[in-house]
Amino acid sequence: MGNNEFYNLDPSLQATRDHVLFDNGTHKVVYLGTQGIGEGDVEVNSYLIIDQDRGCLIDPGGYKIFPKVISNISKHIDPKRIDYLFMCHQDPDVAGSLPLWRKVSTAKVVVHWLWMRFLPHFGFENVDQFSHPLPDEGDSLPLGGCTLQFIPSHFLHSPGQFSVYDRVSRFLFTGDIGIALMDQPMLIVDSFERHVSSMRTVHERLMSSSNAIKLWLNKVRHLDIEAILPQHGAIMIRSDVPKFFAFLESLRCGTDLM
Ligand SMILES: [Fe+2]
Ligand SMILES: [Fe+2]
Repeated sequence: MGNNEFYNLDPSLQATRDHVLFDNGTHKVVYLGTQGIGEGDVEVNSYLIIDQDRGCLIDPGGYKIFPKVISNISKHIDPKRIDYLFMCHQDPDVAGSLPLWRKVSTAKVVVHWLWMRFLPHFGFENVDQFSHPLPDEGDSLPLGGCTLQFIPSHFLHSPGQFSVYDRVSRFLFTGDIGIALMDQPMLIVDSFERHVSSMRTVHERLMSSSNAIKLWLNKVRHLDIEAILPQHGAIMIRSDVPKFFAFLESLRCGTDLM
């Protein structure tokens, strides 16, 4: 760990407000305080990566959370300096706010190519001019002075889903992999052994097959991972990562169970 690197991954962090999770002076990762907004809605986690004053929004979230997301972003960066609106996949909890984003931002929508022809259903014209389709095999994109890596995680659960690896913070953003159904908002997992029971059922149902899981594990296992940041549920810190991978490795899910 470099001297000027600051990590804030304490289990006492409140999930209902925003937090800077990583900062090294030029590069920041912010949790946008998105849990606990809509009563009874599926809770989501949205994150912002900033490098040299350019931003990438990881999973903008649904329509209702837009005001909170944009005001929490504004504490760190002018929303006009967001270069990418990344969608890990096509679901409304990931991208329901896109029509509002299009009104205030010229950022490129980064999403698997499969969902490109669905974007016009948000009411957009000229989709090709403001989007970056991710190819099946993955991609990298520059952000400020760093590079973000887009790692395929197809069929987990969406047929076109991606994880994002940020080499600077060593955070792996996993979309719907690692999600949990929790009774209370929680940002950082306090006990993996307790948390795993809130992940199991939803993974059995949503993840398509153990084969798809193995393909993804082979792509991410070699990475140096400080934390796993899913789009729902709670963040798993470094010591939980091997336990989480072991959980996935032994999981029977989706078509395995039919
Ligand atoms: Fe989803
Ligand atoms: Fe989701």
